[in-house]
Amino acid sequence: MGGGIAQVVAASGRRVSLHDEVAGAVERALGTMRRSLEKLAEKGGAEPDEVLARVSEVDGLVPADLMIEAVVEDAEVKQGLFRRADETLPPEAILASNTSSIPITSLAAVTARPERVVGMHFFNPVPVLKLVEVVRAVQTSDETAAAIVALAEQLGKVPAEARDFPGFVSNRILMPFVNEAAYALMEGVAEPDAIDTIAKLGFAHPMGPLALADLIGLDTCVAIMEVLHEGFGDPKYAPCPLLRQYVAAGRLGRKSGRGFYEYA
Ligand code: CAA
Repeated sequence: MGGGIAQVVAASGRRVSLHDEVAGAVERALGTMRRSLEKLAEKGGAEPDEVLARVSEVDGLVPADLMIEAVVEDAEVKQGLFRRADETLPPEAILASNTSSIPITSLAAVTARPERVVGMHFFNPVPVLKLVEVVRAVQTSDETAAAIVALAEQLGKVPAEARDFPGFVSNRILMPFVNEAAYALMEGVAEPDAIDTIAKLGFAHPMGPLALADLIGLDTCVAIMEVLHEGFGDPKYAPCPLLRQYVAAGRLGRKSGRGFYEYA
């Protein structure tokens, strides 16, 4: 998602510095961005080279007006990153997280600028989906939220504001739906194709919940269910054992080549 976010920000005319701790990740992201930009250029979008010229790979955190963090869904990893960002970025910079479910309040709390910490939650595939869920931590100032709402609009997105409760709005609704589909499969109610066909043709969803879980990443789905489970203390949010089993087997979805379906 980091690459998708970098792409839409660069396409809006801004300069973007991209960093990933995993060797080769930025290079892969740049390849994905180029393919996406080529598709969009066929429909009148900006020249891929022109957009990519505004994106540079950097070795670690660098000073900037805004950070948009999109690392693994692990609260400790994110908190560590927010601590470092707080030391590196100028005090007036906004620190945003693309987290799907980690409390923004807990990220704000590890910084000396909690009022400038906010959730800026994009949706996959970022260059196509219009929504940005703007999540206000307890500490987020009106000014910060307004700046991110305005930025989302400048990126051609539609912002919707939510407060910092487990799963915000998007994943409080989406993830139990995905989890229930995994239960239906585990219990032998239907095959994956039938489950997804029912959602696609019965509810006019662009893709079924199992294909969508593969797109999101099954590890991310489990991590989000764990946040809902712990945050609300309600057993109805327990991650489906089949999801956990697939993750343990390395079947993470599209990114690993196999999840509920196989990918070339
Ligand atoms: N970049 C640029 N263009 C892209 C693209 C990309 N990454 N991906 C797809 N497109 C374009 C295609 O080129 C195609 O364009 P044309 O119509 O002009 O040919 C168009 O989008 C549709 O794509 P496809 O024909 O390949 O397939 P599709 O109609 O099934 O659309 C999809 C693909 C956009 C992924 C669609 O299936 C969809 O919207 N699925 C649901 C995705 C969703 O729910 N995402 C949210 C996940 S939750 C999340 O991200 C956050 C979280 O917290 C977990």
